Amino acid sequence: MPEDLEQILRPVDTPLPKFPAKCITLKNGQEMVLRQVGREAVPHLLPFVEPLMHVAKDFYNIVAARVYAELLSYSTFRVQDEYVIVAQIEGELVAIVNGRIVNPDVGISYHTLSLRGGLRIGAHAFATKMEYHLDVLKQKEVLVVAESPIGFRRWMTEYNLEKKFHIPHELGGCPSWSLTKELYEKAKSRLVLGKRPVPDHLLKKAEAAILPPNNLPLPPEDLVAANRAMLDSASRSLQEIQKRITPPIK
Ligand SMILES: CC(C)(COP(=O)(O)OP(=O)(O)OC[C@H]1O[C@@H](n2cnc3c(N)ncnc32)[C@H](O)[C@@H]1OP(=O)(O)O)[C@@H](O)C(=O)NCCC(=O)NCCS
Repeated sequence: MPEDLEQILRPVDTPLPKFPAKCITLKNGQEMVLRQVGREAVPHLLPFVEPLMHVAKDFYNIVAARVYAELLSYSTFRVQDEYVIVAQIEGELVAIVNGRIVNPDVGISYHTLSLRGGLRIGAHAFATKMEYHLDVLKQKEVLVVAESPIGFRRWMTEYNLEKKFHIPHELGGCPSWSLTKELYEKAKSRLVLGKRPVPDHLLKKAEAAILPPNNLPLPPEDLVAANRAMLDSASRSLQEIQKRITPPIK
């Protein structure tokens, strides 16, 4: 491919201030480091996102598929002004969040993918990217959508997001919700946590390697069984059909 064509295909890569790393003490006492990563980190993230594309529970599949594509778009310069922040506990990857800058005032929240449940890791990671948009980049609002009911409770309900349904969000054209600077300031003391600077030994451990998540929800052998609706009649009949079209191996 001629180099000038690659230059045409590549969108603008605006130099932006970096998110200053921080750490949060989780409710189980563990220290979680949140830090921005560059394109070089993407190959170390993709293998941990891929298995989640097959986990239907809590909409991990669609969110993982989209995050995978967004990470690839970032590393291959096929998306404009994206950023990626990771959360790690002793080096282990526990969450990925990403988003994009539309213009100096408006940010787009892409995804929050938590790889360990029950500790509000996703909630803290989402709060971190809001901090990046509204405190570090000093934007006026962030446009948000949710793919899952847990996501809806975490963002729309906990932050009391404002409906901006006339704005189609980049994620599938769904109606947008907005975290304005004003709403953010109201929620900040309750939801946006973290200490700086990150103690040297924690930051060094996080930067040394992105270690595999230990508690990744695993894809089930039978994908239909992954669906929490498996107890309803529609899903039971799907399972019957699947049994008929997949005869047992003799
Ligand atoms: C949405 C998401 C980011 C939230 O992450 P989180 O803040 O770390 O959430 P937690 O795992 O702590 O809690 C999730 C729910 O499960 C419950 N829970 C309790 N113990 C749990 C455990 N051991 N494991 C999993 N969930 C547990 C929590 O009480 C919580 O319920 P609530 O929403 O009624 O409060 C995460 O569920 C996720 O990544 N989901 C898949 C992708 C997705 O939907 N992303 C958001 C797109 S909008």
